[in-house]
Amino acid sequence: MDTTGKLGNLQAEIGERYGERISALRRDIHREPELGFDTEKTAQKVLDALDGLPLQIQTGVAQNGIVATLVGENEGPTVGLRADMDALPITEETGLPFASEVDGKMHACGHDGHTSMLVGAAHALSGMRDSLNGTVRFIFQPAEEGGGGGGVMVEEGVADGLDSIFALHLWPGLPFGTVATKAGPIMAAADAFEMEVRGTGGHGAMPHLSADAVVVAAHVVTALQTVVSREVDPVEPAVLTVGEIGAGTAFNIIPEKARLGGTVRTLNEDLRERMPERIEAVAQGVARGMRADAHLDYTFSYPVTRNAAGAAGHVLKTAGDLFGEETVLELANPSMGAEDFAYFLEKVPGAFVWLGVGRDVSGLHTPQFAFDEKILPRGSALLTALALSKHAA
Ligand code: NI
Repeated sequence: MDTTGKLGNLQAEIGERYGERISALRRDIHREPELGFDTEKTAQKVLDALDGLPLQIQTGVAQNGIVATLVGENEGPTVGLRADMDALPITEETGLPFASEVDGKMHACGHDGHTSMLVGAAHALSGMRDSLNGTVRFIFQPAEEGGGGGGVMVEEGVADGLDSIFALHLWPGLPFGTVATKAGPIMAAADAFEMEVRGTGGHGAMPHLSADAVVVAAHVVTALQTVVSREVDPVEPAVLTVGEIGAGTAFNIIPEKARLGGTVRTLNEDLRERMPERIEAVAQGVARGMRADAHLDYTFSYPVTRNAAGAAGHVLKTAGDLFGEETVLELANPSMGAEDFAYFLEKVPGAFVWLGVGRDVSGLHTPQFAFDEKILPRGSALLTALALSKHAA
């Protein structure tokens, strides 16, 4: 189906017809953020906003997730469109009139926008059902910010039978309205570790009678910097960050134990699997040299978010047709951030797409993150167009 002419003013049309409703939903969700799998109220808002559309609705997927299916008039592929619904444990400082009313919780990653854009697409595509070839599965996912709700949805069969799948993420730092993606890895694998350094406690004045866990931990943190800088091929991206360190109870006591916590980001599966052994060996070598020991607890978490080349190409072409070539960016490099849409992309060819909200917008996961709602109909239009137009996965 040639959709070029029809799609030309899709953004304006969606804005005109559904813009207010999309914004209202976004604000409603923003006011009442929910964390992890506990997105019950958010899910109810989504269900209310989908009410009356010709959708088959499945609730209670991955606890509070929703799968809404639109079957077109004509035969064709089944396309998945996914949005995340959960917020973050951050206290909002935007001063917006619809700022969070829940202490210590905030939509600081734009998931309120993603969810609303997907509802907008559900309205637009339902309105075009007679010209829709195939089926669209609208997937509203909880627990993206830790918890791996995407993985749970995949385990519950949400990706089964899909021919392709797409998801958007609002992206500060990119010019407003820019659509950016790439073939291959776009986000990194994110793994986590905790480490306990075990020495021998004692009096702060008699270090020779103890094995100082604080000093050992400090050396371990320093030595861990060499895992990436001295053991990984310099052209292979990897990050090792120690983000937590804790020990001690008083200024004059040498503690027996110290605790470290960190994250490891990689794009290469072999390297990813090698990291725990190297971290443990370096930490134990340092600790044992100082009459202490180090115990590693390592958790493999979100895998690499890997776009299929055909799907990424389809996004770039569709966005170019919709909004003009100058608003499309084929990314040179992935982000070392992570995203649990990765679990869907392990099962189904598809693409994760960044939608720019402007260069001077405060970063994701900051208390000041806020975006211009003009982006919402644009995101809805892109999702709609991705589902409407045929592509080679
Ligand atoms: Ni996010």
